[in-house]
Amino acid sequence: MEQLTKISEIRKALEKVRRQGKTIGFVPTMGYLHEGHLSLVRESLKKADYTVVSIFVNPTQFGPEEDFNRYPRDLSRDAQILEKEGVDILFVPQTIEMYPEGYKTFVEVKDLQNLLCGKSRPGHFRGVCTVVLKLFNIIQPNMCFFGQKDAQQAVIMKKMVHDLNLDISVEVLPIIREHDGIAMSSRNSYLNPEQRKAALILYKSLKEAEEMIVEGERSAGNIIERMCKIINSEPKARIDYVEIVDLKNLNPVIAIKNEVLIALAVFIGSVRLIDNIIVNIKE
Ligand code: PAJ
Repeated sequence: MEQLTKISEIRKALEKVRRQGKTIGFVPTMGYLHEGHLSLVRESLKKADYTVVSIFVNPTQFGPEEDFNRYPRDLSRDAQILEKEGVDILFVPQTIEMYPEGYKTFVEVKDLQNLLCGKSRPGHFRGVCTVVLKLFNIIQPNMCFFGQKDAQQAVIMKKMVHDLNLDISVEVLPIIREHDGIAMSSRNSYLNPEQRKAALILYKSLKEAEEMIVEGERSAGNIIERMCKIINSEPKARIDYVEIVDLKNLNPVIAIKNEVLIALAVFIGSVRLIDNIIVNIKE
């Protein structure tokens, strides 16, 4: 595996790969890798001739009060893991090269960026879109891989790729969970053992919602009310949002039908965690 930091270096390396007629798969990450990230990497290794993974903790997607500075980082461990998986290039750009002094250009996906997480994280998706489009332009992959863990991000990425006519296929892969149900996340490392236990409430409330739907409940309001009750029964938890939305446009639904996304964000102490499930009813 080659580990590259300069944009000119990776461009040169990939030019050669493209000339050989090989397809390029790309997995953007912020590092501190876990099995969730690796599921995307393995899919790329399976589907593409050549796999590029990026690690870049992107400052433009963090709010001023958010955890950019303390976001967990362990590049040498990540590099070892990716090397073992068989990744071809690990791209680790420096902030100064991605955003040189005087940087001015940003990409927005209107409306979608203001829903769900966008409400409490203004500017977050603008930062995500900007960095991912920059990485797409640098790497020019044929296919890219995102996780359903960040459901809104996945919807926004697909919309950006479609609206800007990018010739890149976007694959969204299922959430990888710990044995007890907690969705894997680099941010889980912030949790102390008690908070870790309290964090189970997210998945528990999602499972309860699923159960209610299986049993015939169709009122989104009733389901959300029950979920909030469950989450609020955990003293360490503070709800940011609990929503049931249309999987395509992320608008709230009133009655459950077809495919819906049940998504939530909950603070455990000061750690903000997100999770979701897709429920598909065939009636
Ligand atoms: P990061 O949080 O590092 O996640 C990188 C990719 O891994 C995302 O597509 C995310 O959805 C996926 N992922 C994370 N946890 C997962 C899990 N438990 N199961 C499956 N997939 C999971 O998302 C970002 O970085 C950034 O916003 C980025 C796209 C890199 C732009 O900076």
